[in-house]
Amino acid sequence: MRNGREVLSNIIDTQIPIHEKYGGVVPEIASRNHIEAISRVTKKALLEAKVEFKDIDAITPTYGPGLVGALLVGLSYAKALAFANEIPLVGVNHIQGHVAANYITYQDLEPPFLCVMMSGGNTQIIHVKSYTEFEVLGKTRDDAIGEAFDKVARVVGLGYPGGPKVDKLAKEGQANIELPKTHFDEDTMDFSFSGIKTAVINLHHKNPDINQADLCASFQKTVTETLMENVKKATQKTKIKTIALAGGVSANSYMRKEFSELEKEGIKVYMPDLKLCTDNAAMIASAGYYNYMAGYRDDLNLNAVPNLKL
Ligand code: KG4
Repeated sequence: MRNGREVLSNIIDTQIPIHEKYGGVVPEIASRNHIEAISRVTKKALLEAKVEFKDIDAITPTYGPGLVGALLVGLSYAKALAFANEIPLVGVNHIQGHVAANYITYQDLEPPFLCVMMSGGNTQIIHVKSYTEFEVLGKTRDDAIGEAFDKVARVVGLGYPGGPKVDKLAKEGQANIELPKTHFDEDTMDFSFSGIKTAVINLHHKNPDINQADLCASFQKTVTETLMENVKKATQKTKIKTIALAGGVSANSYMRKEFSELEKEGIKVYMPDLKLCTDNAAMIASAGYYNYMAGYRDDLNLNAVPNLKL
């Protein structure tokens, strides 16, 4: 990554085919496969970017949140590289990386803005105050939205990873099934997705012949409405009229279409390139650049923090 915006290489070594047969990520298998992949991926990235270690100003691994085994593989490898090559080490919060996917897609985007962060482990509305300062305005109180997509897909028999499969099947259905939305009091911008997830599971079990495409379309529409209600609250409260989407679920085609409708209400909407929505190293490097420029440095005591907060 050069100057936080220009991607020199972004190698993605996916483990999806390995985990597919288990219906979800198996943490121990994920860590082992990280160990096998990391040297190969690093060499390929350097080669493709046409850089050597002497050209590198900072090594910026993510240290959380996430699965501890997988985090430790990347972090230990990064610490070893930084130590051996005498390059500064700068830790990055994984969620900060998802926000930064937008800086790569839109060269003109600068804070402040609101970020709707939607991934397999997190759902948050974030006030991005600067490149390195964040305030979480609302968050899920139970399941992350990606988790709900994956569970719904599993129940209706679509398999893992569920999000893209629900997205595809929903295109063939009508959103004509009423599903519950959880409302908290007016002051909060928090979410809950466990109720709708359970409702879909119960509906499917009680009525196995239910039209699955309709069920997927209805689920997608209801969770999108829930998200958008809180996003609108956030724009009203903060008076910020720029929003950016982030995280794996922001690849959802229905959501992208619905969010872009907000432009008609005077809200500027940014969404990362599809290949930058799901986990990737370029977004972490972009966030790392901004941490480095803000003066952050870590030492070899940096540890993995599975539940790291923004
Ligand atoms: O951000 P991400 O790659 O990993 C985490 O850091 O969690 O997000 C993965 C999540 C999974 O739950 C996956 O099902 C979901 O993003 N996802 C989607 C779509 N593509 C990926 N959900 C809905 N529609 C999609 N097109």
